[in-house]
Parts: sequence; C-alpha cells; structure tokens
Amino acid sequence: MAAMDSLVEEYISTHQGSGKLHERGVKYFAADGATHFGRVLDPFRPYITHAKGSRKWDVDGNEYIDYIMGHGALILGHSHPAIVEAVQQQMARGVHYGENHELEVELAELIRNMMPMAERVAFFSCGQEANMMAVRLSRIFTGRRKVLRFEENFHGWADELIHEGSAGVLADEVTVIPSNDLNIVEKELATREYAVLLTEGGGAVMNGRVPIEDDFVRALPDLTRKYDTVWVIDEVVTGFRDAPGGWQSVVGITPDLTTIGKCVGGGLPIGAVVGRADIMEAFSPTTPLERRVLHSGTWNANPLVCAAGIAACKLYQDGEPQKRTRARADYLREEGNRVLKERSISSRLYSRTVVHLYLGPIEFEPSDDTMPPTKDTKKIMNPELGPIMTRLGLHLLQRGIAAFDRGFSVLSAAHSKEDIDQTVQAFADSLDAMIAEGTINPL
Ligand SMILES: Cc1ncc(COP(=O)(O)O)c(C=O)c1O
Repeated sequence: MAAMDSLVEEYISTHQGSGKLHERGVKYFAADGATHFGRVLDPFRPYITHAKGSRKWDVDGNEYIDYIMGHGALILGHSHPAIVEAVQQQMARGVHYGENHELEVELAELIRNMMPMAERVAFFSCGQEANMMAVRLSRIFTGRRKVLRFEENFHGWADELIHEGSAGVLADEVTVIPSNDLNIVEKELATREYAVLLTEGGGAVMNGRVPIEDDFVRALPDLTRKYDTVWVIDEVVTGFRDAPGGWQSVVGITPDLTTIGKCVGGGLPIGAVVGRADIMEAFSPTTPLERRVLHSGTWNANPLVCAAGIAACKLYQDGEPQKRTRARADYLREEGNRVLKERSISSRLYSRTVVHLYLGPIEFEPSDDTMPPTKDTKKIMNPELGPIMTRLGLHLLQRGIAAFDRGFSVLSAAHSKEDIDQTVQAFADSLDAMIAEGTINPL
C-alpha cells in the first residue's frame, strides 16, 4: 500500500496546477470534476493546455504521448497543419450561415467516393445522433418498432443505444443478444418484429475489444434481407479509421445504412447517416408526413466542421494515414506483448489501430494479433480489471504516457517509431512497478 500511496503523492506533487483546476472543477462537474466518464481519475487527470501531433502538454508543463487521440477522432494526430489551415480560413468566412453551402456538398462527395454505399448522406453533430436517426429511419421504413443489438456494443448514451442495464434508461423495444451466433440472430429476426439490427463496426467497444467474426458478419446481409430488417453498421469509430471504405470494405460487406462520426470531422464534432436512397427518402419533402422525418439540428453540416472534415477526408482517401497508423499499432502490439511475455504476465495486446489490453487467462494462441486469447466476452469485459487498468494508466501518466487507463490505446498516423519505443519502455517500467507493489501478479 505504501508504494501505491507514493505514486499518488508523486503524481499530485508533479501536477499541482492540474490539482488546483480540479478543485475548481469539482464545484461544477458532478463526475468528480470531469466532463466525460473517461476523464475521471483518482486523484484527477491532467488539465491540458495544448497538443500537437502525437503529444500533448498540461498546465504544469508535463508532456505526454497521447493515446486517447480525441476519443478516437484524431487519426491524423493533433492539429494537423491541413486541418488547422482549413479551419482558420473558414473561421474568417463565417462559422454558421443557417443556409446551404458548398462545403457540405464537397464533404458528402468525399464520403461517397470513399464509401460507395452512401447513396444519400445526412449530417448531425455526433455519432450518437446519427445512430438515433438510423433507428428512426429503420422504423419508418419497416413499420416496426423493435431494435436488435449485440452484447457490449456501444452506440452512444441515448436510451436505445447504451449498454443494457444502464440507470435511467427506457429501452423496452431493445433486445440484446450475443454476437457470433447466427442461430440466435435468425431466431430473433424470424419474429419479423425488428425494424433494425445494429452492429458495431470492428467488434464491440472501440474497434474490437470484443471481436466479431468475419464469417458471422458476412452472413448478416442475407439474414436481415430475408426478414426485412434494416441492417445498420455503426462505423463511428472505424470510418474512416480502418480504411477509406471503412471496416465494411475490409470485411467485404455492405449494410443498408452506415453511421459515421469521429475521424470524419477531422477533430471537430460530426455525425452522419449514409446509405440506401429508398430508406433515406423519409427526409424528402415530398414524402407524406406520416412517413417523413423533419431533420432539424442547429449544427447540421456546420461550415467550420465541414471545412475540417474536407481537409481530413482528402487525406484519408489514399489510405496512407490508415496504413501508417496500423503499422504503428502493430509495432506497439509486438513490442508490448514481448514485454508482457518477458514478465510472465497472463495478458495480451490485440486488435487493429486501437490496441486493446486483455488481462486474464490465455486460453489459446490466436492465429493473428487482432484477436484476444479467449472467446469469452465475460473474461474480456471482466469489471474486476477496471482498477488494475486505472492503476496502470496512472503509472503510465506519471511516465508521460496517456494510455491504457480504460484498457485501450488509440493510435494515429502522427505516432512515430520513437514514440512507440518510449511508450514500450514506460509500459515495461510501469509493469515492473506494479509487480513490485503487488497490483499485478506474474504467473
Ligand atoms: C461505436 C460508437 N458509436 C457511437 C458512439 C457515439 O459517438 P459520439 O460520442 O460522437 O456521439 C461512440 C462513441 O465512442 C462509439 O464508440
């Protein structure tokens, strides 16, 4: 315990400016001073003043290699020059016209070029709004009410999108089933009560903490078509992080609707539903009112956001930032797994451009590093691991790395090989410290 306390003491003494801001913040923000549940930490997370590329700095002058990357939105790193320039220029031309403008058309064209299933596009302020609209469009199109979802899939904090069992949630129309079992999917769909099947791109939780099997996903278009249910892939994290065509282009599938967000806005807030023209006909003013959606939203297709999105999407088109990000993630995984093995810790890094940490029994050797060494969702999502991850996150923060406190690290094209080497060294030092203090036990 003494060692644990000394880490907290050291952290507090090297983060005094952040401590003072935290004292002010707790008076307003009920989540122990934080504005997002992922920014809560005992004693407090650093208060950041600026960021560039792969790095960010706090009010006390501490420097971090950042693996939060705007909750996954920044595949180009912080303040990419092309995005900064586009936003600065647009700022001077006006940030809100309350009218149609060229930038929204250009951004839609870029999205369609990368994701040809985007026959129509509708813009929102964030990914969750896009998912809410995807559910509504599906209800209108099918004349049904129910929503089918997979375990641990996250689509936002709104009633029908958040994890089952969350407090204050009304989701009577939602059924949650395990993924990777076609019989269960078919049994539900065959009731012909479902308007929509929602599927998180890349697997559940930030691009595949709980993986989804390719063969399973490839069977979903036929099944949903057979029972007239709209199939929506939520690519809010994976579009266009995995590839210019999103995760669906990697697996080789086409849903009826796709929702995107995060990376699409180049770091500014955005969401979009894209997909089949007949389903999105609900937006048309010629559609009878009983089948029409009145799509309001003060921030829809905001010019500033569109300017950032265009600059970002132009860079995503050739797939180079995605490939570079994947290469860095592969390197972090390889080196991190070596460090874990050397210390005989039963644990594994896996997944694609968001690197996940599995801490638990190794049940088999997966054929590749995108998969964890178990298929048991309960073991992957074991809530008892939370405090260990948080502790690891604090050790890493104190060593200048903002990573893994929630079990994953988000890579970007701005991370260099040197960044990863420094991170792996800090990871090894943190694990050694945790073994010494008894918060991680080698086999
Ligand atoms: C898969 C997925 N869908 C939707 C959302 C919600 O997006 P937003 O926070 O932009 O509303 C998230 C947020 O992390 C997400 O991971």
